[in-house]
Amino acid sequence: MDYKNQIAETIAAVVPELDNATILSKIEVPKDASMGDYAFPTFLLAKARRMAPQQIATNIVSEIATDGFKEVKAVGPYVNFFLDQAQFGADTLAEVLRQTDYGHNTDGEAGHITIDMSSPNIAKPMSMGHLRSTVIGNSLAEIAKANGYQPIKINHLGDWGTQFGKLMSAYKRWGSEEEVKADPINTLVKYYVRFHKEAETQPELNDEGRAWFKKLEDGDEEAHELWSWFREESLKEFMELYNDLDIDFDSFNGEAFYNDKMDAVIDTLKEKHLLVESQGAQVVDLEDEGLNVAMIQRTDGATLYMTRDLAAAIFRKNNYNFVKSLYVVGGEQREHFMQMKAVLKKMGYEWSDDIEHIPFGMITVDGKKLSTRSGRIILLKDVLADSVKLATAQIDEKNPNLANKEVVAHEVGTGAVVFHDLMNERLGNFDFKLEEVVRFEGDTGPYVQYTNARAQSILRKAGKPELDLNNLSIDDEQVWETEKLVASFNDIVRRAWRDREPSVIAKYSLNLARAFNKYYANSKILVEDDQLNARLALVTAVSYVLTESLRLLGVKAPKEM
Ligand code: ARG
Repeated sequence: MDYKNQIAETIAAVVPELDNATILSKIEVPKDASMGDYAFPTFLLAKARRMAPQQIATNIVSEIATDGFKEVKAVGPYVNFFLDQAQFGADTLAEVLRQTDYGHNTDGEAGHITIDMSSPNIAKPMSMGHLRSTVIGNSLAEIAKANGYQPIKINHLGDWGTQFGKLMSAYKRWGSEEEVKADPINTLVKYYVRFHKEAETQPELNDEGRAWFKKLEDGDEEAHELWSWFREESLKEFMELYNDLDIDFDSFNGEAFYNDKMDAVIDTLKEKHLLVESQGAQVVDLEDEGLNVAMIQRTDGATLYMTRDLAAAIFRKNNYNFVKSLYVVGGEQREHFMQMKAVLKKMGYEWSDDIEHIPFGMITVDGKKLSTRSGRIILLKDVLADSVKLATAQIDEKNPNLANKEVVAHEVGTGAVVFHDLMNERLGNFDFKLEEVVRFEGDTGPYVQYTNARAQSILRKAGKPELDLNNLSIDDEQVWETEKLVASFNDIVRRAWRDREPSVIAKYSLNLARAFNKYYANSKILVEDDQLNARLALVTAVSYVLTESLRLLGVKAPKEM
């Protein structure tokens, strides 16, 4: 039952000056439950009615239909609604159990949402920095789907650019094929780090690197062969990680894919007189937007990250006809995306307004930035392996006879890392401490998983009963909070999408797990009485919503752990 809607309709009947949608948007959930379950503020009627809000609230209460509510009363300028708990709980449980997709809505009307996510750079390890883009993007895709959109997950691999020229030049100088084959990414990183160190005293190295990249762009055979070999080896390693996380993509069109699509962009820019020369390079002036110039083409004709992103944006619009195009990329690239949108706008593409950079905060280690060049990197691969090890130890201790121990340890270990990342607000920075990520108590993914496994175990003990959906009232104050949380799941799914914020779901799942555990600690569930059916329905509903919340985050919910 959607109580908020019902309340809005009830109010609308006595407040003709406002439409339903406005009323709905004004209804609040008071922080303090003693102020009611929902409240409607009357301030915005004061002008029209030329009356004090307090008086308006009193008038509304005297006119409003109160059946279906435990109480409706005016407190100051608010009309407070108290729900009938038993009725509300029963309605809520019936709704969850009757639907196959409780929490989902069709707001998106099947519109396409492209999501640029993960997008690691070839020949570099996928670091914790890319984990955030991967898991936030994946979760946003699931949340978009739950809101009725069709997400398209695009891995815009960093497989093109001057850095490949540098790598080739490094490889030609110091590289050995056997060494690369034995340990590809680490070896390539080693060359790359050495290149940067030596270039500090020999700046001509940078020119050599640029020349190699130019060769690559011009289709030189040797350059192309090296490039595709580096790419292949790197992708193999990335795929292992994606498999570990059980994350897939609809497209791996990386930067190189746009190599033959950039001339058209440059031509259009020229036609529209947007390109100007600046120190030999071709740029778009964005001073009127308060932005730095966007570099489109270097003196030697080589293209840039920006050029490829412009081609990619246009390709995505033509190919996917998106209603929104999201880019889940760290906050340090904010200006890049502002420039990209501004250039597209100048080119006359009105749809550039539908492009959204979804920035996220930085992960630091002991307060310091991570970077491949400095060698200060945490490898996602290692973090996941350590986390799975810790999960295995926990299971060995708590549930040594568990079947599928390895599978569950994997689900719990990787789930811990993913959940930890997503429960932090997207824009916040956080310092990474392995022990915290893989903690199994407190605000963690494993706590939510464990709560769900507990619910599942109750249902197993009850022998997976057939539930009677006409008998769902529970006469127990302790269950109120849990029922209200279950009922708010629809709102949570909408809010998570509106704010592009998976942490809304993660925090919600922690609240629901806590509320249910509190109820479970104080009330007996498996007692043969006339409310057993309703209590088992509650456990079923809680497990459903916890499982679905975790799924929206990209975290598995094992039935036993
Ligand atoms: N490869 C880039 C990096 O690691 C991220 C690419 C983001 N996507 C994009 N379309 N620019 O910084």
